[in-house]
Amino acid sequence: MQTVTAQAPANIALIKYWGKRDEALMLPTKSSLSITLPGLTTTTTVSKSSTQEDTISIDNKKLSGKDKQKIVSFLNIFRSTYNIHDHFLIDSKNSFPTAAGLASSASGFAALAKGLNTLYNLELSPEELSQLARRGSGSACRSIYKGFALWEDYEARQLFTPDHWPELRVIAVIVNNQEKKVSSRVAMQQTIKTSPLYSQWVTRSEQRIPQIINAIKNKDLHMMGSLAEQDCIEMHACIQTTKPAIDYWIPETRVLMQQVQKLRHQKIPCYFTIDAGPNVKIITLDQHVNQITQVALGEFFCYTLAL
Ligand code: DP6
Repeated sequence: MQTVTAQAPANIALIKYWGKRDEALMLPTKSSLSITLPGLTTTTTVSKSSTQEDTISIDNKKLSGKDKQKIVSFLNIFRSTYNIHDHFLIDSKNSFPTAAGLASSASGFAALAKGLNTLYNLELSPEELSQLARRGSGSACRSIYKGFALWEDYEARQLFTPDHWPELRVIAVIVNNQEKKVSSRVAMQQTIKTSPLYSQWVTRSEQRIPQIINAIKNKDLHMMGSLAEQDCIEMHACIQTTKPAIDYWIPETRVLMQQVQKLRHQKIPCYFTIDAGPNVKIITLDQHVNQITQVALGEFFCYTLAL
């Protein structure tokens, strides 16, 4: 029986995706922009099953219940789109410890979309792969590309290749590795429905897109980092003002945010961004990594990642 293997990297959004304008099609309320992190990957093997059921394991753990259903729903969309009646055996492994709190559905669904494309010789273009991955998890549509990716509505596309800015680094600081209490999917629905700040953030965040593209083009770390940090703070303000309130931050998250600001006062250029969890990603340049990790982050475990 044919088994294919596919790999995809994680990505971190500088201008965030948070909310869908179409839940069924997984279309976003606004554009988002990310950097792809090839140091964090998911490798997935896919083959056709001889049974009428999908069998899925992640990091050697067989999935059941809600976790499995999320992937089966995606496989159902794939089957109906391409008129395929097979079921699958899927085995997925992350290059980073799942427990590190970095595990992202983005690399997982991007790798699965690539694997299915290969298994059926569909010869999908990167844009079509991006559209397919989006149906699994919105942020996965950006993980099809290396470097900088922009997601607008149906698909993402590459804006700059990694060699545009080889000195750029992301330090992922692990402050807690517990699974989040409220999933992004549920929290973003609640944010749209109940946060009084949400519509303003959508407008302001969309306006940041051309500004950040310009900053990246000019390799202006200060401008790019400031826009990313502001977008993150405003997204979390929306999340924190939902009813009932959701707070992904823990005391260590705030300590690190202050630490980054302190480093900037000491003329070390670095900026933070935070997704739907407590871990902090610090954006900086190669030459400042040692100073940041050794001096400022002493007790925290972190990964340093290039583009
Ligand atoms: C905070 O892509 O995981 O990381 O589309 O419902 O699967 P679903 O959500 P998901 O949300 C990611 C949210 C984010 C911001 C981002 O990556 O842009």
